[in-house]
Amino acid sequence: MTIETLLCTADEGIAAAVSAAAAAVQRPVVRVKEPESLLGSWREARVVLVGADCAVLAGRLGLPARRGVYVLADARAPALASALSASVPLGAGTIVLPEGGACLADVLAGRTGVSQGPSRIAVLGGSGGVGASTFAVGLACAGAALGATALVDVDALGGGLDLLLGAERVAGWRWDRLRAARGQIGELTSHVPAASGVTLVSMARDDAAALSRDAVAAVLASLARTSGLVVVDVGRSLDAGAREALRGSDRTLLLCAQDVRGVASARMTLEAADPNGAAVVVRLRRGGAIRPAEVAEALGLPLLGTIPQDGALSPAAERGVPPDRAAGRVWLRACATLLAGIGAGAGVGGRSGIGRGAGIGGSVGLGGKTWLGEETWMGGRVATGMGNGTS
Ligand SMILES: Nc1ncnc2c1ncn2[C@@H]1O[C@H](COP(=O)(O)OP(=O)(O)OP(=O)(O)O)[C@@H](O)[C@H]1O
Ligand SMILES: [Mg+2]
Repeated sequence: MTIETLLCTADEGIAAAVSAAAAAVQRPVVRVKEPESLLGSWREARVVLVGADCAVLAGRLGLPARRGVYVLADARAPALASALSASVPLGAGTIVLPEGGACLADVLAGRTGVSQGPSRIAVLGGSGGVGASTFAVGLACAGAALGATALVDVDALGGGLDLLLGAERVAGWRWDRLRAARGQIGELTSHVPAASGVTLVSMARDDAAALSRDAVAAVLASLARTSGLVVVDVGRSLDAGAREALRGSDRTLLLCAQDVRGVASARMTLEAADPNGAAVVVRLRRGGAIRPAEVAEALGLPLLGTIPQDGALSPAAERGVPPDRAAGRVWLRACATLLAGIGAGAGVGGRSGIGRGAGIGGSVGLGGKTWLGEETWMGGRVATGMGNGTS
């Protein structure tokens, strides 16, 4: 489920202020009252607002770092200073009410430049060999042109993404060194290889065991602290590590072929993966039988765009020449355009290069899934209980 804004507070004054701001900008808010309720939706929500009353306990939950978290405090509250200090373990910004009401409305409306774009994108191949790993590399290289970007390979049987980047001899940790990672780990960027300007966590070729959820969560959380954008090549096994990577991704791009079997396979993949914020990218092929719009319609997902065929990619992969050096301008531009289409790159490395919503923007979000069994505010309306979040 993709939640636009998640609010955690038992303080009715703070809740009323958020409700008013949400009504003003016509944005939905899901409210929970217990800090523990943040656990399930911490990663999925675009913005997380934590009332000062819940901030200390929320900070003790060991939630992974993410952008777009704010602690809300009432200026008249007696323990204002300690409430604001509680923002540190959450890596949160602070908004003091009522003075910060306009700022709160900007945050709800997505006008802050922070957390505007997705910070983690999962790339999922609809069928084997459709070009998902190559596309993931292309997205990461396009992201690296905007700011700090990491690429993570969680495909245990994929042969190692370092090969595709011509980086198999570049020293640094691979997953064989990281598979025991748990919880909060230190920064990884200086330990893992970099290739084509991208921080790379690749599979090791002599270690084909599936990754655990804990290891994937720990590594991705560490990278999120140093890279504004993390692209994950999920692979097709959908094992525990791959599912963890999918679970915490803001967007999933399903790369689908233009033929009947490709679409049939992508449908099954989609059902099995149940990804967040999914959109289709159609891999064009000469003589492709099904038009991109029809592919997307068959999958019931928004069409983000297409990725062209590029005859240079396959021979380059054989020679260890990375896609960003081998591919033609059309393919490179397609990767950059698709990244911009989901608003990624905003806030990467502290720079806000591309705005949100040039492509699918808000059309991927609250699609067809069940809300939390909590109070749900759609702008000014208040609906309580389980409902269907189809927007
Ligand atoms: N846009 C493209 N045009 C032409 N060839 C491509 C394109 N994208 C990828 N390829 C080639 O297709 C082959 C498979 O690519 P890739 O390994 O990226 O696919 P994949 O979907 O990740 O495969 P797998 O299911 O094994 O993980 C490679 O030879 C690659 O160079
Ligand atoms: Mg692959």
